[in-house]
Amino acid sequence: MVVTRVRLHQRPPTIGAQNCSGRFAELELPHVLGVEGVGVVLKSRCESFQEGARIAFLLKKFFNDESHGCWQRRLILDEHRAMILAVPAVVGLNQIAACTTSTVAALAFLKFFPPASQIIVTAACGAVGLATMQLGALRGHRMIGLVRGPERAAWIAKELVGCGSIAVVDTDAPGWIRLAFPMSGKGELIAPPDSTDVGGGADGIIDGVGGEVLALALEELLRVRAIVVRYSAVLGEDAARVDAAQHRLHLQVRYGNIEEFMASLDAVRQVEAAFALIGDARYQPKAWHVASWKEVAECMKDQPIWTRHATQVKPGRIGRIILKFD
Ligand SMILES: NC(=O)c1ccc[n+]([C@@H]2O[C@H](COP(=O)([O-])OP(=O)(O)OC[C@H]3O[C@@H](n4cnc5c(N)ncnc54)[C@H](OP(=O)(O)O)[C@@H]3O)[C@@H](O)[C@H]2O)c1
Repeated sequence: MVVTRVRLHQRPPTIGAQNCSGRFAELELPHVLGVEGVGVVLKSRCESFQEGARIAFLLKKFFNDESHGCWQRRLILDEHRAMILAVPAVVGLNQIAACTTSTVAALAFLKFFPPASQIIVTAACGAVGLATMQLGALRGHRMIGLVRGPERAAWIAKELVGCGSIAVVDTDAPGWIRLAFPMSGKGELIAPPDSTDVGGGADGIIDGVGGEVLALALEELLRVRAIVVRYSAVLGEDAARVDAAQHRLHLQVRYGNIEEFMASLDAVRQVEAAFALIGDARYQPKAWHVASWKEVAECMKDQPIWTRHATQVKPGRIGRIILKFD
């Protein structure tokens, strides 16, 4: 067994909420949460990561794992249990803390697409969405981000301008779907609902929100046999529309699974290559706030506007909150 002890900075995971959905049915509470982090190696029996090395890690098993959890100042890591990644010398640990899981997720979801695809990304201002937009464009795909609100649309258009082919649509704008037609290669004319002869359209979509936005995008913006990568959403009342669109257009539905991606042979190489792009300022992860671990309970809650704490559910937030365990 390889043992690496690290001192940590981490971002608050969404896993607390997953407990309510039964994915940690066997977990005894109270339990330390967290699946990722960055830090400095204090002691090591591993040749690849010597004392003083700066590393990032992501636990390989997210759910139903009793040893899951890493919100602590010092941690023993094992290569069987965690993907361990070298942080380039010119890149700050906080930059990597802001993007470890989202980079792995983006690479796991982009792997389904052939070169130069046209890909729609929902929740494009979320951490996974932002990573997917940037890494997709840097790989030569044409990315179309769907976001809520003109501020986010303007922010993306300005911030990601150097990455490659990026377009953004504000789904709060009335008639947004028509604004997206030309970007997705669709003509102005919509085919009748029972037709598969829809012409044009994007090569695929990477979706983390579901709902009306996903249903409309599938119905109106994709080409026949486009690829649909789903990674989060609960569909609710739009499930029937999504099913109908999938059937009508013969869409290829994939479920993005980052645990599976981490098990692939070149996963570490791919993630470290993405980290190197941060050093060149081509890939730019976004951190919203760095908080002491003592603030964690407050960061996870909705806060009144006068609060001195940052909150991850603050309206308008773009970027991660990073927890510091010094
Ligand atoms: N399958 C996997 O392997 C995997 C990996 C990582 C994450 N995830 C999951 O992916 C989801 C996103 O993670 P994240 O880290 O990117 O979260 P995040 O940074 O909080 O971003 C969430 C995004 O979703 C958007 N959003 C939320 N509700 C929405 C709605 N009803 N309609 C449209 N957009 C909505 C938000 O839009 P605004 O910006 O407008 O608020 C935000 O951009 C989480 O559920 C997470 O658990 C899955």
